[in-house]
Amino acid sequence: VNDRGGKEPVSVLGLGPMGQALARAFLTAGHPTIVWNRTAARAVTLTELGATRADDAVDAIRAGSLVIACLVDDSAVGEVLQPLAGQLRGRALVNLTSSSPRQSRERSAWAARHGIDYLDGAILTPTPTIGQPSALILYSGPPSAYQAAQPVLAALGGRAVYLGADPGRAAAYDVSCLAMFWLSVLGIAHGLALASAEGIPGSDLGPYAQAIAGMLPEMTTRFATQLAAGDYPGDRSTITSAAAGLGHITQTAREHALDAVVLDASMILLGRAVQAGHGANGLARLAETLATANPRQ
Ligand SMILES: NC(=O)c1ccc[n+]([C@@H]2O[C@H](COP(=O)([O-])OP(=O)(O)OC[C@H]3O[C@@H](n4cnc5c(N)ncnc54)[C@H](OP(=O)(O)O)[C@@H]3O)[C@@H](O)[C@H]2O)c1
Repeated sequence: VNDRGGKEPVSVLGLGPMGQALARAFLTAGHPTIVWNRTAARAVTLTELGATRADDAVDAIRAGSLVIACLVDDSAVGEVLQPLAGQLRGRALVNLTSSSPRQSRERSAWAARHGIDYLDGAILTPTPTIGQPSALILYSGPPSAYQAAQPVLAALGGRAVYLGADPGRAAAYDVSCLAMFWLSVLGIAHGLALASAEGIPGSDLGPYAQAIAGMLPEMTTRFATQLAAGDYPGDRSTITSAAAGLGHITQTAREHALDAVVLDASMILLGRAVQAGHGANGLARLAETLATANPRQ
């Protein structure tokens, strides 16, 4: 709430699917919302909902007490914001663009050099969750920046988690969780391709896919405990056994002339663990195998 009793004006830079969802949530929460996008046409629906379209990024920055950036990547953020560092001085900037931890730390250092009150964020959930209880957004950066922005960010709904002063921390959690997510997505694509090649409609896999997916949260916790202890009991299954299992999956993919590049890469990784003498270990060991020097480098 600002001095005049109204809600703080918020500027949203970037109106891809996520930027639009953020702007809609601010509008729904009653914030005057100023929107800017490189391609102006993307602002049309939002202006119909009550947002104000800024002609350029600098106008948007001037109009909002809080500036939100949500662009495709950090280099787009640099292209848009670096020339406007002077106009951002003394202002609050929350960067919800996905980035690497290093990019977030460098972006934060850039902001500090220009007197910008910078908070980094990572959105973990998809656009329909924004403004809803299921939204999950991670933040990191100076505590004062989080405290100042938090009342406005509450409009985005769900769970906001502040991970501390290191501006790269939110991105570090993000890349770790997204590694799990994207490789799982590839797993889904492989499962559906194999099913289809075997004449099974993908929809028939549903209940079995649920059973597989349901194993993952428990495995994540158990593997993390084993990794912390450096102890990888092979009592449930072993890397050698997994290599055999993955072998017949790869063979089936080949028999159907499916692209096996990801399966081959997985076989290489498992083979490396076996060659290093860890075949009798449990699968959590693979996180450690990944951390050993890549022989191809
Ligand atoms: N969509 C999701 O479910 C989701 C979930 C979590 C996190 N995120 C993150 O949210 C961010 C935005 O994602 P998104 O889904 O909204 O769409 P996106 O396709 O990742 O980003 C599109 C936005 O970036 C702008 N852009 C790209 N290059 C630019 C440049 N050089 N200069 C100025 N603007 C530029 C586009 O402008 P134009 O319209 O002019 O091309 C558009 O506003 C990403 O970092 C993404 O990882 C998205």
